[in-house]
Amino acid sequence: MSEPFAAVEIISAKRDKGELTDPQIDWIVDAYTRGIVADEQMSALLMAILLNGMNMREISRWTNAMINSGERMNWSALTRKTADKHSTGGVGDKITLPLAPLVAACGGAVPQLSGRGLGHTGGTLDKMESIPGWRASLSSSEMLKVLQDCGAVICAAGTELAPADKKLYALRDVTGTVPAIPLIASSIMSKKIAEGTSALILDVKTGNGAFMSDPAQAHELAKTMVELGMRAGVNTRALITAMDVPLGFTAGNALEVRESIEVLAGGGPPDIVELTLVMAREMLDAAGISPLMDPAEALKNGAAMDVWRQMVRAQGGDPEAKLPVAKEKHIVTADSSGEIIEMNALKVGISAWRLGAGRSRQGESVQAGAGIEIHAKPGGHIEAGMPLFTLHTDESPRFERALEALSGAVRISSTGEKVQLLPLIIEKITG
Ligand code: URA
Repeated sequence: MSEPFAAVEIISAKRDKGELTDPQIDWIVDAYTRGIVADEQMSALLMAILLNGMNMREISRWTNAMINSGERMNWSALTRKTADKHSTGGVGDKITLPLAPLVAACGGAVPQLSGRGLGHTGGTLDKMESIPGWRASLSSSEMLKVLQDCGAVICAAGTELAPADKKLYALRDVTGTVPAIPLIASSIMSKKIAEGTSALILDVKTGNGAFMSDPAQAHELAKTMVELGMRAGVNTRALITAMDVPLGFTAGNALEVRESIEVLAGGGPPDIVELTLVMAREMLDAAGISPLMDPAEALKNGAAMDVWRQMVRAQGGDPEAKLPVAKEKHIVTADSSGEIIEMNALKVGISAWRLGAGRSRQGESVQAGAGIEIHAKPGGHIEAGMPLFTLHTDESPRFERALEALSGAVRISSTGEKVQLLPLIIEKITG
C-alpha cells in the first residue's frame, strides 16, 4: 500500500518551524508505530519538535494519535465515578499508595495505571512490589474486578495502552529528546486519557529533585496537560508542588510502603498527609463525587486502611507480611550543630538510587529494602554527631557512591539564618 506522506517532508516542515497538519500527525505517529517510519527519521522529527515546539492543536492531535495507537479503557460497568492522579515524579513521592485507597474509601473509583521508576525518582510499581506476593500485571477483567470490589486498583499499564508512546519514549530516552514540553505532555496525557478516567489531578513537581526544576517550565507543562485533558473530556486540574526537599522521611521501595502504611493508620509525616488530603479532595471534587466522609476522617477511622488491605490482598499480596529489610545499614551523622537550612532532594534521590532502590536501564531489577531514612528535615535543629540519614542496601560496596551523592546535600547553619523552602502547594491550575 502506498503511503500518503513522505517522512522527510514532515521532518523538513518542522525543521523550518512550520505547523504540521492533522493528517500529517496522524500518519507519522501511526506509521512509526507500524515500523514504516525509521527510528532515525522519527529521531530527527523529535529533535525538530524539541527545538521548534508545537502549538496546542498539534500537541492535542499528536496526543490523540498516540491514544489511537492502542485501546482506550472503559469503566462504564462501574457504579462509581472514576478519578485518578499522576505525579511527574519526585524523591520520596509515595502519595499514590495512601491516596488511591483513601479516595476509594470516600466513594470514588481509582483506576491507577502506574509505571516503574527510572533514574532518581521511584516508581509506584517498584514500591508496591516490595509487598510479599503482590502482583502488578492484571488482565483488563481482573482490573475491573479489583476496581469493583475494592474501589481502587494500582497495576501496570498493559502493552495495549498507547503503544506509540512506549516506542517513542524509548527513542526519546536515547536521543536527548525527553525534555520537550509538547512531547512530555502528550506522552503523559495519552496514557492517562487512554486509561479512561473521568477526572484527573496532576501533581507537577518543581524544585531541584523534580523533572521540571524550573517553576516556569512546570507551570507551562501543567497548563498544557490540563488543556489536553479538558479537550479529551477528562476533567483535569493540576497542582504545582514542591520538590526541593524529599517528601516524608523515606526514599526507597519497602521504606516508602512502611511510611504509607503509617499515613493509612492515621499518622505519618505532615507533608505526606497534607498532600494526600489535598489531592484526595481535588480528585473527589473534580469527579463530582459527594464524599461518603471527609478524607481526613477516613485516615483516622481506618476506612482507608481497610481498602488498602483489601486492594493488596486482591492482587495476591499479604498486607500483614513483614516488609523486606536491607542486609546492610550505614548511619550518616551531622558534622555540625544548628538549624537544617537545606536538604537537596536530587542528591538524596541519587543516593537512594545508587543504594539499589532505582534502576539505570529499563528492565533492571531493584532492591526492595534499599533506600534512605531521613532523621531530620529542614526547619529542625540538629546537634553534631546526631543521625541525619540511615542508608540501607543489600550490597555494602554501594555505600561509597551513595555517600558521594549525599555530599553537600544538607546545609546546617548556626547563625540564625532562616529556612527558605518552597510552599508544599505552589499553584493550582484548572481548565
Ligand atoms: N513521563 C512520561 O510518561 N513521559 C514523559 O515524556 C516524561 C515523563
